Amino acid sequence: MAISPILSTIAVLGGTGKEGKGLAYRWAKAGFRVLIGSRNPEKARAAALDILGLLGGKVFVEGSTNIRAAELAEIVVLTVPYSAHRETIESVREAVHGKILVDVTVPLMPPKVTRVQMPPAGSAAQEASAILGPDMQVTSAFQNISHELLMHPEPIECDVLVTGTSQAARLETLKLVQAAGLVGWDAGPIENSVVIEGLTSVLIHINRETGSRNAGIKITGIRRDSEHHIAL
Ligand SMILES: NC(=O)c1ccc[n+]([C@@H]2O[C@H](COP(=O)([O-])OP(=O)(O)OC[C@H]3O[C@@H](n4cnc5c(N)ncnc54)[C@H](OP(=O)(O)O)[C@@H]3O)[C@@H](O)[C@H]2O)c1
Repeated sequence: MAISPILSTIAVLGGTGKEGKGLAYRWAKAGFRVLIGSRNPEKARAAALDILGLLGGKVFVEGSTNIRAAELAEIVVLTVPYSAHRETIESVREAVHGKILVDVTVPLMPPKVTRVQMPPAGSAAQEASAILGPDMQVTSAFQNISHELLMHPEPIECDVLVTGTSQAARLETLKLVQAAGLVGWDAGPIENSVVIEGLTSVLIHINRETGSRNAGIKITGIRRDSEHHIAL
């Protein structure tokens, strides 16, 4: 598949945390300008310095507030616990206007994280879309990728299923998946995110049952050079 130029400044809201920092690391390594967002700009700057330290300083990573990061970015990735999902989205509503919001949130409700528990909107991604309104592009991705794998150079044995409110937004998100060194698939409209978010509880259950930490999923039965996905 021919790939058009990609949006080059990514904000990772909650990028001080486990999943967001791993994604930020991979995108910085791939040459993107990465802005780590946090409720606390000092914490964000410390996370940015960690990534700069790991990558030898030859990359662009900065830390700031969630709002400032969202304002300055072309595409905004949300990596906060479900308990902070609505509050965080509402806090950046103006800043993300006209951009794509990539929601990584899984609506886990501790302590029963091995049980699928979806919110009334259907999924966290649909909730994000409802909060932001019909004019905003929202996609959903990376819910099945363990943060533990993101900071390591080895290939990750887990595909990324991308849903979203438009095909154009899904394609932009698939470019971020590819840039992170992962295989991504266009998994259809945002309503399908319920399955992918729910799969995370299934994977956590399998991890617990098997003593593993990194259970994942792969799409089979389609050639990996198919035009339907974006791979390395
Ligand atoms: N961890 C994984 O392996 C993994 C895999 C796939 C998907 N996910 C999903 O990705 C999201 C983030 O997971 P995570 O493990 O990275 O979470 P985390 O490390 O616990 O938290 C991420 C960041 O969210 C912010 N945050 C935490 N509590 C908050 C609150 N009450 N209000 C506002 N912000 C708060 C914090 O940033 P500041 O304090 O800097 O604001 C924190 O660093 C979750 O929805 C999770 O289900 C995680």
